[in-house]
Formats: sequence, C-alpha cells, structure tokens
Amino acid sequence: MTKTAPSPKKLHIRTYGCQMNVYDSSRMADVLAPLGYTWTDDAEGADMVILNTCHIREKAAEKVYSELGRLRLQKEARSSADEPLVIAVAGCVAQAEGDEVKRRAPWVDMVFGPQAYHNLPDMVQAAARGAGVVETDFPAAPKFDALPDEAISQGPSAFLTVQEGCDKFCTFCVVPYTRGAEYSRPADDILAEARRLVASGSAEITLLGQNVNAYHGDGPDGGAWSLGRLIEAFQSVEGLARLRYTTSHPLDMDAELIAAHRDFDVLMPYLHLPVQSGSDRVLAAMNRRHKAADYLRVVDLLREARPDIALSGDFIVGFPGETEADFEATLDLVRRVGYASAYSFKYSPRPGTPAATLDDQVEEAVQVERLARLQDLINSQQFDFNKSTVGLTFDVLLERPGKHEGQLMGRSPYNQSVHVHDAVSAGLKLGTLAKVRVSEGLPNSVAATALASADAA
Ligand code: SAH
Ligand code: SF4
Ligand code: F3S
Repeated sequence: MTKTAPSPKKLHIRTYGCQMNVYDSSRMADVLAPLGYTWTDDAEGADMVILNTCHIREKAAEKVYSELGRLRLQKEARSSADEPLVIAVAGCVAQAEGDEVKRRAPWVDMVFGPQAYHNLPDMVQAAARGAGVVETDFPAAPKFDALPDEAISQGPSAFLTVQEGCDKFCTFCVVPYTRGAEYSRPADDILAEARRLVASGSAEITLLGQNVNAYHGDGPDGGAWSLGRLIEAFQSVEGLARLRYTTSHPLDMDAELIAAHRDFDVLMPYLHLPVQSGSDRVLAAMNRRHKAADYLRVVDLLREARPDIALSGDFIVGFPGETEADFEATLDLVRRVGYASAYSFKYSPRPGTPAATLDDQVEEAVQVERLARLQDLINSQQFDFNKSTVGLTFDVLLERPGKHEGQLMGRSPYNQSVHVHDAVSAGLKLGTLAKVRVSEGLPNSVAATALASADAA
C-alpha cells in the first residue's frame, strides 16, 4: 500500500517572549511539516495559527488575549467549504494558565506548554475530532529525544537550545513554574544538531537556555560537561564561524567559562549577563544569591580574559521595597560596568511568585520615573559604545536587506546592529561574513563600509 501525502496546509506561528520561544517555534514547524504544514508569514491565509506566548510580565501575557479575539473573527469568517481554522496557544502563558485560556477563549482548539511540542501530531488529531486539548504536564521523558531533526533552515544565525528550565527561583520570576526544573541536553546531541545547522547554511549559533551557564549535560566521556567544556568542543564544528550563548546567571560564571572567552576565537566578545539591581538589599529580596560586588568581580574577570568584551544586562526597577537609595545603587553599578546595551523593565507582579504578595509594592509613577532615568543612562552608554567602535574593522554576518537600497544589515562581533551601506555595490552577499570598517556610531547601531570581497563564510 502506498502512503498518500497529507494535503498541504499553511501554518503561522506568532512568537512572543525570549529566544527560546523563537527556537521552539521553529521546532514546532519541524514537527508539523510531515503533517503537510508549510510555514506562512501571512496569519490571515493560515489554516493553523499558533501563538507561542510569554508570561514574564503582565503586558506580555495580556497581548495574547487581544490576539485571540482577532483570531476568533478570522475563524468565524472562514467559508463553510473550508476546514475550520485551528487555533493553538503554546508557550509560557499556556503552561501557566492552561484551562483559564480555554475558559476565556473557548474558540481555541489546543492549549499546550513548552514540554509538549513533540506531541503535536496527536494533539492535532484530537483537536480535529473536536476534543479540546489542554496539555500542561511536565512529562518525565525529555521532549528533545522525541523531536524530529530540523526540517527548516534557520538562516545565517541560528538558535540551539542546550538547557531548559530554571532552579533559581528569583522571587519575581515565573520561569521556574512555566519551564520547570533545569534540564541539560547531552553534549553529543547538541554537537550533532550544530553540525546540521551549519550544513543547512547557518554561520552563527547562539546556545540557549533560561539559565544557559548552569548547563551540565552528559559528555561523551561519561562526565558532566560544563558550558565552558561544551564551548571547547564546538571547536570541532567545522564551518561554524561564530558562537554565542544566552542567558546567563552571574553565579554560574565559572572559571572555565570565563577562560573560554580568552581561549576560543569562535566565541564572540559579547555577553548578556543580567544583574537586575545594584542594591544588595534588593538582590537579597529577589533571591539572586549574590551581591553587587560579586557581579562586578565577574565583570572584572571577564575583562581580564577578553579585554574588548561588550556587556549587556537586564534590570528591574521598582521591585517591592526598592527605595531611592537602592535605585541609586543600580545607577551606580551601571556607571561602573559601562554597558554596550541593556534591557530594563518595570517590576510586574506575577501570579504565584513570592514577590507578588509583598506589601511594599512601588507606585507606578515612581517606577515610570526611575525607568526613564535608568534608560537615559543605558542609552547614553550604548551610544558611547557605538561611537567608540568607529574606525574598527571587523566581520559582519549579513542577515537581511537594509532599509535603504544597496544596504545590507548584520551583527558585529559585539552584537551591534550594523548597516553596511555600500554592501550591494561591493558585491557582498546575504548569509556571508564581510569585512567592514565602522564609519559612524549611532544610538542603536553603527554604519560601516565594505572593505574587501565577501568570501569569508
Ligand atoms: N534567565 C534570565 C532571565 C529570564 S527573564 C536571568 O536569570 O537573568 C528575562 C528578564 O525579564 C529578566 O532578566 C528580568 O529582568 C525580566 N523579568 C523577569 N520577571 C520580571 C517581572 N516579574 N517583572 C519585570 N521584569 C521581569
Ligand atoms: Fe527567572 Fe532567570 Fe531567576 Fe531563573 S535565574 S528564576 S529564569 S530570573
Ligand atoms: Fe517569556 Fe517563557 Fe521566555 S515567560 S521570557 S517565553 S521562558
């Protein structure tokens, strides 16, 4: 008997939140490909729409419900001759709110958390039978073993999840509840996936984990490998030009990982190292388990190992009980570190987290004012950093066309966004590494000119 090919259908996945969700979205597309689903960027023309959601702050979670309202109309507008539009909610809102999503939006066909993506074929069948699907268990068998190999190239720069979940339990954060306990994939599986990514056209890989530097996966030698050891093994991935990793916790920046920044050229001179606050009192209340001085010490060690390393961070302002003096300590830490870029957020109380029930919540107006002051400082540091790179020559991985004719855009080793304005006339090609010289530092990017031919990738 010959197997008939499944009828072609269009899949649209809208991704919110962090890079792990971006990676997960591409893996969901891999799982659905054998069922006949091909990717479309056009939500209106899709037969299945998956919202891959984020629960980290209230705003992120609320966006999902307004999008679901729009999808309801799209579902109702489909002609009766067509198969019904399948609507799914995946990711961290699905994991955290499960049945609540079904209750608030009964037109949703499937609700499932990040540990269930390999079960998509079964869930799609159940949904087609009209059975409402809500899957938010944490299965014992890791989903990574059950996921198929990647079917779709991620392009010049790819994500590769090496670690998932978090055991740190910072008092503001939902991640330990939405992603579960820490799990590290075996090193061999990761290296094999990396080789496939390079073969499919990726020159850069970013290793991902909610707490990526807590990585402790099984190594081929039988021991547990640290992230530093794993990065060393990436030396053997031929054709890989660039390696990055995110997101790291300061406590897990061990000597081996810091030394990797000195020893391995493939590792880019950039690190996102969130600290959240510069006040020891607030850090303790956040359960970050280190002091501001410990963070500054890690920064010093990183700069000893790799003097030009560009640093980025995350900050929360207006955590419960944060005083003006605490906030000043954060500004002080930012001044001492000197960031190349950083993200900052108003504290958002999340259901089920310890900080949400503290009495001394900071007023919204105070949060807004502090956030503006912090962002002014960060923006001026970013501008200064971009200006400090004028005259440097480095490789840019060209990832997409620029806004202006003849321009291509890419990332510098320091993770700056780079516009190469004469890229097309210089014969540079998307997906390749190109040597450029920085001509101008802008607030959020740098401009550069091409130096030689594009044949570096
Ligand atoms: N694993 C990373 C961060 C994951 S969440 C780490 O440990 O640093 C990404 C960022 O969102 C955090 O660094 C924090 O700055 C911010 N964030 C998390 N929970 C938040 C909350 N309840 N309110 C505001 N910002 C939050
Ligand atoms: Fe959340 Fe990061 Fe803290 Fe884990 S380490 S609880 S992911 S902020
Ligand atoms: Fe958001 Fe979940 Fe990532 S809450 S930040 S999508 S781990």
